[in-house]
Amino acid sequence: MRADFETIVYEKDEGIAWLTLNRPQSLNAFSVRMRDELYEVLSGIRIDDEVRVVIFKGAGDKAFCAGADLKEFLTAPSTVKARKVRLLRNLWKFFLELPQPLIAALHGYVLGSGVEIALFCDIRIASDDVVFGMPEVGLGIIPAAGGTQTLPRAIGVGRTLDMLLTGRRLTGTEALQAGLVNVLVPRHQLFQEAQEIAQTIASYDPEAVQRAKQAVLRGSEMSLSQGLELESRLALELKKKMPAS
Ligand code: COA
Repeated sequence: MRADFETIVYEKDEGIAWLTLNRPQSLNAFSVRMRDELYEVLSGIRIDDEVRVVIFKGAGDKAFCAGADLKEFLTAPSTVKARKVRLLRNLWKFFLELPQPLIAALHGYVLGSGVEIALFCDIRIASDDVVFGMPEVGLGIIPAAGGTQTLPRAIGVGRTLDMLLTGRRLTGTEALQAGLVNVLVPRHQLFQEAQEIAQTIASYDPEAVQRAKQAVLRGSEMSLSQGLELESRLALELKKKMPAS
């Protein structure tokens, strides 16, 4: 099954949902239209039991996503910007609450919102041509899609401040060392690698997959004792009989 929107393409095949950011002429810059279309598609995915795992990727050779659409964002009056930021927050919350695992398959430029989308994914795979950067502060703004919170959780406070305050870009090897990506592969293997990881996840019991994801994500915001309680609760809820522990 395939559905073409104006800014994204949605495909579903054997339990795997492929979401392609599809504005290659603008390096897949994140626009208001893209935000709305992502919201629409993710709303459907959320309640679609056939979807076991989602893969995000970017169209074209040059970029996964070169950040917010600057032509749209930097020219908008401040009230419009405030509204966009508010609506963005809703979309990002939605990302976080999606029960199925999300995989980001990253190539070329991954800047600003591109990094932020990747950080809302559970597994990040990149190709060796990838370039990560957070240009917002240099443009007189700050990340508005969670980047100041999600990036330090992934790579630490020091590295985040370095990227944000100096605009330093990371190569694929640096991103791998920093823990920003899980796997680095040659460009021609990127989508194949993403698909293989997705197939592995899709072959597992979806309830176990979704509860494991929930336990880690929700637990990371709790104290250890609260997290252990959450884990027990989620384990008990699993219909399958757990081994004694
Ligand atoms: N918003 C809107 N359009 C963008 C864009 C963005 N964030 N990033 C790139 N584009 C457009 C360019 O304007 C250009 O369009 P044009 O052909 O109509 O002029 C097209 O995408 C190709 O980009 P170009 O700059 O020619 O490619 P490049 O290889 O020379 O440079 C980048 C690539 C990513 C270094 C450069 O495009 C760039 O710096 N983009 C802005 C990144 C940014 O600051 N993002 C905002 C984060 S908040």
